[in-house]
Amino acid sequence: MRAGHQGTGPGAITPDGCAVELYSRLSAGDEPDIIAAAVPAGARILELGSGVGRMTHPLLERGFTVTAVDESAEMLERVRGARTIRSTIEDLDLGERFDVVMLASFLVHTGDLQERQARLSTCARHVAEDGCVLIQREGEDYHMNIPRERVDPSGFTVRIVSSEPVGDGVNSVHAEYEFPDATWTQTFQTRPLTKEQFEEALAEAGLRVDKYLTEDRIWVRAVPAS
Ligand SMILES: C[S@@+](CC[C@H](N)C(=O)[O-])C[C@H]1O[C@@H](n2cnc3c(N)ncnc32)[C@H](O)[C@@H]1O
Repeated sequence: MRAGHQGTGPGAITPDGCAVELYSRLSAGDEPDIIAAAVPAGARILELGSGVGRMTHPLLERGFTVTAVDESAEMLERVRGARTIRSTIEDLDLGERFDVVMLASFLVHTGDLQERQARLSTCARHVAEDGCVLIQREGEDYHMNIPRERVDPSGFTVRIVSSEPVGDGVNSVHAEYEFPDATWTQTFQTRPLTKEQFEEALAEAGLRVDKYLTEDRIWVRAVPAS
């Protein structure tokens, strides 16, 4: 388990505390449409931290080619129709470049600064000169109004129970997913980033914001800086 990360509930749990069975149950929502609208049709996508393929599968259905990367073999076993690679994001070096590199699921918010820069360097190392990097950030109000909960129309409740500072600008977040037949929890460490801090981190990796794709600035399209 990664330091500061923990998960509980039925089935396999990844080193960052995610439950494989939980992610198999979650639907993709509007995220594949946001991605499809931001990149060229038929693009070759490198998806970092793909999990079970919650976004991979709808992207394949939309005609993209996806290479799915995750450190969890149990997650990757559930990915269908995509090339899969088991690796940490930080260590990935495929010697290939892609039209699109995706770093979703707030993975840019890791509390470890070196790890964050290694993740962004992986994005920069794998994106084509005329390609783009799609990043999903936390909403700027992510750590406000806690505790809060949302009842999903499909019948489960997701609750952000707490977000407590643990030093050096890092918070420990505790989340619960309650289904009629099972409950999963995840505790993880995350470093909130202002727009300015986020853009500085990109610049350090040789990337710059091309466009904030959503009004809440959660989805971002970045491009190589030079
Ligand atoms: C919150 S889940 C999200 C999965 C998928 N992106 C989705 O939206 O359904 C995060 C995934 O990233 C993977 N992951 C987290 N940190 C990673 C790292 N440093 N290297 C590779 N995979 C990582 C986990 O194993 C997990 O499958």
